[in-house]
Amino acid sequence: MASKSSASPVFLISVILALVGNNDGGEITVYWGQNGGEGSLANTCASENYNIVNLAFLYVFGNGQTPELNLAGHCDPSSGNCTGLSSDINSCQARGVKVMLSIGGSSGRYNLSSAEDANQVATYLWNNFLGGQSSSRSLGDAVLDGIDFDIEGGTNQHWDDLARYLSEYSSSEKKVYLAAAPQCPYPDAWLGGALQTGLFDYVWVQFYNNAPCEYNSGNIANLQDAWNQWTSSTAGKIFLGLPASTAAANSGFIPVSNLTSKVLLAINGSANYGGVMLWSKYYDDQTGYSSSIKEYVRG
Ligand SMILES: *[C@@H]1O[C@H](CO)[C@@H](O)[C@H](O)[C@H]1NC(C)=O
Ligand SMILES: *[C@@H]1O[C@H](CO)[C@@H](O)[C@H](O)[C@H]1NC(C)=O
Ligand SMILES: *[C@@H]1O[C@H](CO)[C@@H](O)[C@H](O)[C@H]1NC(C)=O
Ligand SMILES: *[C@@H]1O[C@H](CO)[C@@H](O)[C@H](O)[C@H]1NC(C)=O
Repeated sequence: MASKSSASPVFLISVILALVGNNDGGEITVYWGQNGGEGSLANTCASENYNIVNLAFLYVFGNGQTPELNLAGHCDPSSGNCTGLSSDINSCQARGVKVMLSIGGSSGRYNLSSAEDANQVATYLWNNFLGGQSSSRSLGDAVLDGIDFDIEGGTNQHWDDLARYLSEYSSSEKKVYLAAAPQCPYPDAWLGGALQTGLFDYVWVQFYNNAPCEYNSGNIANLQDAWNQWTSSTAGKIFLGLPASTAAANSGFIPVSNLTSKVLLAINGSANYGGVMLWSKYYDDQTGYSSSIKEYVRG
């Protein structure tokens, strides 16, 4: 694991605040961007099924590489075609839906070579997607709510530095939200060090493609153990990350009735329960999963 062997005071205070905090019901967050057939961003937000949308992915960055955004069939970033998403982003935010940029993904090319590299990536993200300015903003003038770290490759170094540099851009005027999408085995191989900073507002743990911590054959013990570990040792709101259909992942899909009658009851009493994350809007369209679970998730 990266760097730290003991938790910082800031981290411990964040955990204590999370543990004593009220559970005001859950939210649903979804990934949008990797399938052109999943409807527009504006319609995604207008469905009222989601509280937070992650735009997936900025899949090339770091190590001096020119960053590259990929939004599949939705638009072509290199020709400036994605700037039209600004009005969608603004309409989402006007409805109270947060829109985050997800960096990484399972098939990206990224890693951070040093703290200075992390600083440069933070500056790039600020100028191109957050409150800063650049002549090459891929998504136009809209100011995103924050950055989601979906780190599943490269190295485990300097993600803590990136989180610190990004958090320094938060102001009383506009907060820069930080999210992370670790795998369910605790601690996460890629993001474990970054999560120890206690700087993340949302942690959507991927309880799929990870057999040792999934719900399986009606047995909740493995999922429950992992959930308890995540919620007792990580700051921020913790989400149950799930595939929205059997086709969305190799394993880990939970039928609606099992989720609403068993799994949610076992996790939604945690003080830092955040809700459910779904991969992805496309698969959710196929099954109607979020429509079926939302009243249970929100409690
Ligand atoms: C990208 O260009 C195509 C073709 O002109 C258009 O249909 C589409 O709406 C554009 N996308 C965005 C996000 O502006
Ligand atoms: C880090 O990124 C650079 C640039 O893409 C690449 O050449 C290098 O192999 C990567 N290192 C690791 C460990 O992934
Ligand atoms: C859902 O619940 C049924 C009935 O308890 C059980 O047979 C089935 O294995 C469960 N599904 C999963 C994916 O665990
Ligand atoms: C917990 O989940 C159950 C079952 O899905 C739901 O009925 C209840 O309202 C939820 N409670 C909270 C506090 O979210």
